Order: sequence, then C-alpha cells, then structure tokens
Amino acid sequence: MLPMPPALYRAVFRPILFSLDAETAHHLILSMLSMMPPLPVPSDPPELRATLWGLDFPNPIGLAAGMDKDAIATLAWQSLGFGFVELGTITPQPQTGNPKPRVFRIPASNALINRLGFPSEGMDAVAPRIEKARRGGMRMRIALNFGPNKDTPAEKVAADYAALMTRIGALADFIVINVSSPNTPGLRNWQSPERIRELFGAIERRAPILLKIAPDLDDAMLDSISDTAMALRLDGMVVCNTTFKREEVGITSTEVGGLSGQPLCELARDRIARVYGRTGGKLPIVGVGGIASAAEALGHIKAGASLVELYTGLIYEGPGLIAAMKRELANLLKREGFRSISDAVGSAAKV
Ligand SMILES: Cc1cc2nc3c(=O)[nH]c(=O)nc-3n(C[C@H](O)[C@H](O)[C@H](O)COP(=O)(O)O)c2cc1C
Repeated sequence: MLPMPPALYRAVFRPILFSLDAETAHHLILSMLSMMPPLPVPSDPPELRATLWGLDFPNPIGLAAGMDKDAIATLAWQSLGFGFVELGTITPQPQTGNPKPRVFRIPASNALINRLGFPSEGMDAVAPRIEKARRGGMRMRIALNFGPNKDTPAEKVAADYAALMTRIGALADFIVINVSSPNTPGLRNWQSPERIRELFGAIERRAPILLKIAPDLDDAMLDSISDTAMALRLDGMVVCNTTFKREEVGITSTEVGGLSGQPLCELARDRIARVYGRTGGKLPIVGVGGIASAAEALGHIKAGASLVELYTGLIYEGPGLIAAMKRELANLLKREGFRSISDAVGSAAKV
C-alpha cells in the first residue's frame, strides 16, 4: 500500500475512500495504519536533512496536526517517509468534539472544511502510546500539539496548557501551542500579545516550544505576535492553521469550519514570508498550508519555512506522496543551485 504512486491512488483507491463519509474514511485509514508492522525506511538524501533546536530531522516534511490526534499510528508515519509528525491536538481531559458530520471534502479544489472541535482521548490515553512508539525505534521526530478542553473557562485555559506540558511535554521533541483552531470558541482570542505573554508565563518549558497561528490575522496583528514571540524567546511558530476565508480564496461552500488544502497555499506562503521578514529570519518557522507537491514545499521553504507540514495533500494524493515529494525536492534543490534545505530557507524573502 505504501509505495503506491499518487496516480494509482487517485485512479483506484481515492474513489473508494471518497465514497465514504470523510471521517469514516479517516478512521478506516488510521486503524489500517495502526495495524501495519513498521517498515524499514530507506535513508533520505543528505541534502534533505535539517537541524533545528539541536535536533536532526532526516527530512523537512512533517505530518500536520489533526491527522493523528491520539497517536494511534505513530510508527506508520515514519514508514510513509515523514521526517517528523505533529500528534494532536491533545487536550487534558477526553472530549468528543462537535456533532457529526464535521469534515467535508471539496474535491474540485483539493480542499477540506472541518469543524471537529478537538475530539481527543485526552493526555492520559495518549501518553503510553507515544512511550511505546519511542521504544519501537524512531528516526523521525515527534511534536505534540496542545489545546484546552472546550468546557475550560477562559481563566483556566493557561492551566490546561500547563497541565499538558507537565504530563506529556517530556515525551516530545518539540511542542506546539495551538491557539488558532477556529472550532473551539474563544481560542483564537489567545493570539493577542498580552494573552500570549500570560500563556507562556504559565507554561514550563520542557522541550522547544512553538506557537501555531491562524492565517486570518491582519498584518499588524501578525507583526505584533512575531515581535512577542521573539521577546519571549519562543523556539518558533507554526504558520498556519486552517482559514475562515472562503470567497477570497475561491471557495463557494458555506459549511462552517476551517478550510485547508490547495486554496490555502498562497495565503499560508504570504503569512510565512511576513513572519520571516518581521523576525529577520531569526525565528524558525514550520510552514503549513496547501502543500501537495515538492514545488509547493520548496515555495514555503524559500518564503522562510525551515520545516514544512501537510495534511490535506495526503488525502488527495495518497500514501506514496511523501516518497515522491522527497525525490522531487532533492532534484529541485539541485536544479535551483541549493546545496541543502537550510541553504534555501528564506531565499525568496527580502530581509
Ligand atoms: C480534518 C482536519 C483536522 C485538523 N485538526 C487540527 C488539530 O487538531 N490541531 C491543529 O493544530 N491543526 C489541525 N488541523 C490543521 C492542520 O494541521 C493544518 O494546519 C491545516 O490543515 C493546513 O494544512 P493542509 O492544507 O496541508 O491541510 C486540522 C486540519 C484538518 C484538515
């Protein structure tokens, strides 16, 4: 199943999966992946290696948060060829999320809209799975993405993040503080500089810590968040989450929720470039939004991302996408005269 070329996936497997409700298909794939024995992964070309926060990444392509919220299939992501995986969003207590249906495909635009609202088995269920995966031999890096429970009152949200850090922070290579999901009421308010300062003041740092932001912030807000992240010496930003935008990105669907996939690509790249420029390239950026090819990954890297992630692209292109992207990314680097990924980071930006 794994080396399946994207063309075969699109022609044969995708129509079968797309005949099912999006969330049913998702759980089917996740449970198949969780049962798969770990496969030996061929080494990645040396020019794809990345080093950040003193950590080696075999390649810069990661799985974005939301695909494996409960660490069900951790080792399988390595078999697919990812250089890292962002597990979560994990909440402190288990919760079921919003009523179904809550994930919608827009095949004509290679996009998804979701309003899942952080369904999570909770940190106590996820912890032993990550510990087990780590014992199974891991070259890939693991990030954990944290979010508060839906019924946590505003004055206790910082305590939710702090509890997650205390309970499972040490299991991660890096931590992502998610304040940008559009589906948890009030969460995006935590993107103001004052709230960010309050939040990070409450969280002990047990691993490199990054802030994940929304693409819908205006330029002034994005600049002041970037300044705050630098002042607080955060280890980086994940740019970006799903968008509320519809018409501006060519989508007519009126389903409520966050939009991901191809229509987000340009907007995400613009946000990455802005954060890179504002921080003078000094704050590592994980670039995410609308990536489904090596050229799109390299575009985000040249705009300023040190690592990239994808989710929706995998739904549309299938499990062979990562191996194909890595081959092509190595070719593109060579063709464009870059010796390594780090050589290309921010090369398109005016700093
Ligand atoms: C179904 C779905 C669920 C998601 N759940 C989460 C989540 O729990 N936490 C989070 O930070 N981002 C979540 N995301 C956002 C992705 O991590 C990513 O930021 C966004 O989808 C843009 O990337 P893409 O265009 O490659 O999908 C989710 C996205 C999708 C499509």
